[in-house]
Amino acid sequence: MTTLASDRVAQLLTRLHQDAEASDREHVEAMMSAIEAPGASMDELIACLLAEERSDYRGVYRRYAGNYLAVTPTYGRFLYAMARACKATRIVEFGTSMGISTIYLAAALRDNGGGCLIGSEFEPAKVARARANLDAAGLGDLVEIREGDARETLRDVGGEVDLLLVDGAFSLYLPVLKLVEPYLRPGAAVLGENAFDPDYLGYVRDPANGYVSQTLPLDEGRGNEFAVRVA
Ligand SMILES: C[S@@+](CC[C@H](N)C(=O)[O-])C[C@H]1O[C@@H](n2cnc3c(N)ncnc32)[C@H](O)[C@@H]1O
Repeated sequence: MTTLASDRVAQLLTRLHQDAEASDREHVEAMMSAIEAPGASMDELIACLLAEERSDYRGVYRRYAGNYLAVTPTYGRFLYAMARACKATRIVEFGTSMGISTIYLAAALRDNGGGCLIGSEFEPAKVARARANLDAAGLGDLVEIREGDARETLRDVGGEVDLLLVDGAFSLYLPVLKLVEPYLRPGAAVLGENAFDPDYLGYVRDPANGYVSQTLPLDEGRGNEFAVRVA
């Protein structure tokens, strides 16, 4: 029996995913209508979102302070499996929100024999909720959530990293990857959820930069990029 399948964690995740769906319904519907609007193109929408973030990413995410914006259960199970496959004991997460993805990853740490996940989130209320959710899962001892802008809080992650999840402001995936890159061990997994930024994708897909990377056929359309550090 894995920690992920334990009643305590499985029931909590079911409740959190239900909560997330209810709280994010309006946001998801607005995104869907923008995508489906006559004449709209996904590329244009992404360019628009990136431009908005580039002018004020803090302001963009403050508007979503009450939203989960969480990974799907499918992607969560993938996170757990990846962290088990990498035998991860040190994980870094850019964008913790209410801690749903963090629970999947911390459950893997528990089943790998222990370790540490460093999370990052700039909304104080989200940090408090994520910590409460991790405690409710019985996984709080494995997680340090750093409150503040990840461009500062993830400057020093203290040691070799087995897995990096980038799931914060879309436009910051590349700067955050570059911050953590010196700590990635050979073979480390770098998982980009909603990895749409052409600068990020161009970087991880260029073999000269020391990654092998491709989009996963998982939750298609959500831009799930899977890179492995091969340098
Ligand atoms: C897509 S959500 C993360 C969802 C989370 N990984 C999950 O699956 O439950 C992105 C989160 O990143 C946070 N964020 C965005 N940019 C950030 C930054 N520069 N530093 C810290 N947190 C940031 C936002 O406040 C938001 O809560």
